[in-house]
Amino acid sequence: MARIFSIINYKGGVGKTTTTYHIGTWLALNHGKKVLLVDVDPQTNLTFLCATPERWQDFRDNTGTIASLYRAHLDDKPFNIRDIVWSKPIEKAGKPVVPGLDLVPSDVELLSIDLDLQASSTGFTRLEDAATQHITKRAILSNALQEVADEYDYILIDCPPNLYLVTQNALAVSEAYIVTALPDHLSTIGLEILYDRIKKLNNLLTYASAISGGELKGPDLGGIIFVRVRLGGTKITKAHVRKMAEIKGDYGPNVFEEYTTEGIGYGEASERALPVFLIDDANAKRVADQYRKIGDEFLARFP
Ligand SMILES: Nc1ncnc2c1ncn2[C@@H]1O[C@H](COP(=O)(O)OP(=O)(O)O)[C@@H](O)[C@H]1O
Ligand SMILES: [Mg+2]
Repeated sequence: MARIFSIINYKGGVGKTTTTYHIGTWLALNHGKKVLLVDVDPQTNLTFLCATPERWQDFRDNTGTIASLYRAHLDDKPFNIRDIVWSKPIEKAGKPVVPGLDLVPSDVELLSIDLDLQASSTGFTRLEDAATQHITKRAILSNALQEVADEYDYILIDCPPNLYLVTQNALAVSEAYIVTALPDHLSTIGLEILYDRIKKLNNLLTYASAISGGELKGPDLGGIIFVRVRLGGTKITKAHVRKMAEIKGDYGPNVFEEYTTEGIGYGEASERALPVFLIDDANAKRVADQYRKIGDEFLARFP
């Protein structure tokens, strides 16, 4: 049975996608794990780290994307998520190079799906009915993933920078959520806000589950991973080191020991739709080492 995690922050550009991709590919490449990546961000970045836009377009037209799952739910049609699992999407010269890893690709259409899910709410006079609707709207991904969860060791869900219903679906099916963050002042405030918001969402989920007889409860905080840390002696870099220590004080063992520093080496990897581990170049090698350690720490924390 897969262990399921959401990688989340309501901020953009804080390494969610890069981290999801590299933990996933590392677990598959080096530890022989079966990994399913699920991209639920309409920006489709995780999908494009796995495959070129041309191959995605092809898959989307012929097979579908995560949007198909939500569209089917809105249209009250049956849907099997297996139909949109892209088997071994990461390729080099036309051959799969991360054979243990599959992907549920995303779609820009998710943008309107969140609005449609919200709009499909109906008023209720009975509390039980309202609770059931609350759960139903947040259990779409959970119900779908049950179909394939036995086939994977890990399912990693890359979330968009918001907490709307598609994100709440990701949280509801996850045992824990992993936050990626820069160790700067605004991110520190952001961590607290995110933690509180998810706690509130979890409370609502537990409450509605108790009334409706559902089983969703929401995830625990599983970890905080710092990214793009700047080390050194300047004012800004000193502030990073200080903030990291401060956040460790607040969140204790939830903070990963390993982190990434601000580095070059991601650009070529993302252009070639390959993980940095598979790029033969000095810059990529340097950053690859950081994600190896983060991947190993993830595995040690969630064996
Ligand atoms: N350690 C790092 N050093 C330099 N650039 C990074 C680092 N980690 C991520 N990036 C780059 O930052 C940008 C945003 O990262 P991304 O993972 O897409 O963030 P998010 O998913 O939170 O929006 C990407 O272009 C990515 O390649
Ligand atoms: Mg992203």
